[in-house]
Amino acid sequence: MTAPTAHRGLLEWVSEVAALTTPDQVVWCDGSPLERRRLTDKLVEAGTFVRLEKKPNSFWCASDPDDVARVEDRTYLCSADEADAGPTNNWMDPLDMKIIMTELYRGSMAGRTMYVIPFCMGPLSAENPVLGVEITDSPYVVISMHIMTRAGSAALALFGEDADFVRCLHSVGAPLKPGQADVPWPCDRTKYISQFPEERMIWSYGSGYGGNALLGKKCYSLRIASVMARDEGWLAEHMLILKLTSPHGTVHYIAAAFPSACGKTNLAMLEPSIPGWKVETLGDDIAWLRFGDDGRLYAVNPENGFFGVAPGTGWKTNPNAMRTLAEGNSIFINVALTDDGDVWWEGCSDTPPDHLTSWRREDWTPASGDLSSHPNSRYCTPIAQCPTAAPEWDDPEGVPISAIFFGGRRATTVPLVTESFDWQHGVFLGATLSSETTAAATGEVGVVRRDPMAMLPFIGYHAGDYFQHWIDIGKHANTAKLPKIFYVNWFRRGDDGRFLWPGFGENARVLKWVVDRVEGHATAFQTPIGWVPGAKALDLRGLDPSSHFDVQRALTVDHDEWRAELPLIEQWFATIGEKLPTALRDELEALRHRLD
Ligand code: GTP
Ligand code: SPV
Ligand code: MN
Repeated sequence: MTAPTAHRGLLEWVSEVAALTTPDQVVWCDGSPLERRRLTDKLVEAGTFVRLEKKPNSFWCASDPDDVARVEDRTYLCSADEADAGPTNNWMDPLDMKIIMTELYRGSMAGRTMYVIPFCMGPLSAENPVLGVEITDSPYVVISMHIMTRAGSAALALFGEDADFVRCLHSVGAPLKPGQADVPWPCDRTKYISQFPEERMIWSYGSGYGGNALLGKKCYSLRIASVMARDEGWLAEHMLILKLTSPHGTVHYIAAAFPSACGKTNLAMLEPSIPGWKVETLGDDIAWLRFGDDGRLYAVNPENGFFGVAPGTGWKTNPNAMRTLAEGNSIFINVALTDDGDVWWEGCSDTPPDHLTSWRREDWTPASGDLSSHPNSRYCTPIAQCPTAAPEWDDPEGVPISAIFFGGRRATTVPLVTESFDWQHGVFLGATLSSETTAAATGEVGVVRRDPMAMLPFIGYHAGDYFQHWIDIGKHANTAKLPKIFYVNWFRRGDDGRFLWPGFGENARVLKWVVDRVEGHATAFQTPIGWVPGAKALDLRGLDPSSHFDVQRALTVDHDEWRAELPLIEQWFATIGEKLPTALRDELEALRHRLD
C-alpha cells in the first residue's frame, strides 16, 4: 500500500516502527465505512466481535479477563528529570524505558497487520488542529479510535508536509508465529503505558483496554496535553461539559471533574427532573479550557465519542445514553450478550433476562450469583448521535464556562454541594478532592484516596506545579469573569448505608441552585468549608418527601467530620512536598481556623 501522505517525519516514523515490530503488512486507515466493514468482519471472524442483531452496526466484545481497566501501576511518566514527574506518577528515565520497550516491541507485530491511524483531537476546523498518529496492531483499537476521535483521511489532510503531531505507538504484544491461531483478545501479561512529555510521545504495550490503548484519550488529551497546557497557559482536565438552559432561556455552560466512574457521563446527559430546565451535552470525560478574547474560560471537548461505564446505565438513570446506543454504531466491551443478539448489564433494566452469555463468555442466569458484566464494562459510541448533543459540541471556539464542579464519591463528610469562597479556595477544594476508588482502574475498589481535580492518574507533571498552574490561571484572569467553583457529592450515605440524595436527574436541582448563585440570586449559609445551601434554598418541588432520601443530612456540614479530615489533608499535602503552593497551605490553615 502506498502511503497517502507526503509528511516526511510521519513516513520515516512509520517505516522505523514497521522495521522494529515486523508486521505482515502496513495499512493506512482512512476511516471510511468500507474500512470499518472490512475490519469488523475480520473481528467477527476472529471471534473478537459478535455482531448484534438488535442494534444496527454494533458489536459485543469481551476482553481477556485480566485486561479490563487502566493499569495505574504500569503507567509511567518518563520525563527527563525525575523531579518533573512528581510524587504522584511512576517515573522511569526515558532512555531506560525506551530500551525496555524497544525490546518488547521488537517483532511484537509479527503475523499481524500494523495500522496507521492519523487523528485530530478536537474539531478538524480548529485554527491549530491538535494532531496525532496512533500506530497499533489491534483492529479493535482502529474501530474504537474512529469513534472516539476525528480519525482517517480528514485528519491526515491537515498534516500537510510538516505539521507537528504526537507519536502514539501501541502494540498488544502478542506476535503470531506462522500458522499459530490467534485468540479473541490478544494481549501480554507485561504492560507499560509510557508518556514522554518532552518529546510529546506515547508508547503503550501489552493491553488492548480503552485508557491503556486508545491513546488519543487519557494518554494524549490529559497526560501529554496537561504538559502543553502548563507551557501555554491553559488547562487540560478530566471534565464533562454541559449546557444548561433555564425556563427563561438563560444559558450557562458547566464543566465538572469527577474521578473515573463517579458520574460525569450521567451528569452530562442528565434529564432534569424539574420542569422547564434543559441539559445538553458537549462532552463526558475531557475538557480543554482556554481563555477567550473576552477574558472568559472556554471549553472544548477533544473527543468525538463516549467511552462510558455500562453498569448502572438504564432508562431510569440515563435515558439519553440508552437513546444514543439505540442508534447503533457502537462497541460494547465486557457487558453480557443476550440470546437474541442484544446487550445487557447490571442496571440496564430492572429484571435481567433468564439467560445471558456473561462477559467471561460463560452461561449466566439470575441464579448464577455473580455479575453478568464487568463493573468497568463500557460502551463506545459517537457523540453526534446523542439526542442531547448541543449543536455547538463541535465548535472550535468552545463554550464559555460559568461554573466548575469538583466532586467525588464520599460516603461521609462531604455535603451535596458547596460553593468555594473564591478561585484560590476553589483550587484548594479541587486539590484536596477525595473519592472512593472504582473499577475503572485495577486495584482495590472503595478505598478513599485523594484524587486532585479528578486528575491523579492523569497529571502529566509534578502535582505541586499543577496546583500552582491552577492558582496562576486565576491570578492572570479578570476575577469577575472566572467560573465559580463548586464541590459536589452525590454519594453521601446514611447510617443504614443508603444514598442520602437520589442523584441522576434530580441533580438538576443542584444545577439550578448553582446557576442561581452564579447570577447572584440564591441564598446560602456561610460554613467553615464554603457556602452551602439550606434545604429551603434548593428547589425540591416534586421530590417525594416520604422517600428514604434525606436532603437535610446530605447538606449537613459536620464540624467533627471535617476536623477529622484535617490531618488527612495535611498528610496528602506532605506527600506533595516542597512544591506545594503556599497558597494551599494557607487555605488549610484558614480552614482549621474556621473549624476551631
Ligand atoms: P469515567 O468514564 O470512568 O471517567 O466515569 P464517569 O465519571 O463518566 O462516570 P459515569 O457517569 O459513567 O458513572 C459511573 C457510575 O456512577 C455509574 O454506575 C452510574 O450509574 C453511577 N452514578 C452516576 N451518577 C450518579 C448519581 O447521581 N448518583 C448515584 N448514586 N450514582 C450515580
Ligand atoms: C476513565 O477511567 O476515567 C475512563 C475510561 O474514562 S478510560 O478510557 O479507560 O480511561
Ligand atoms: Mn474518565
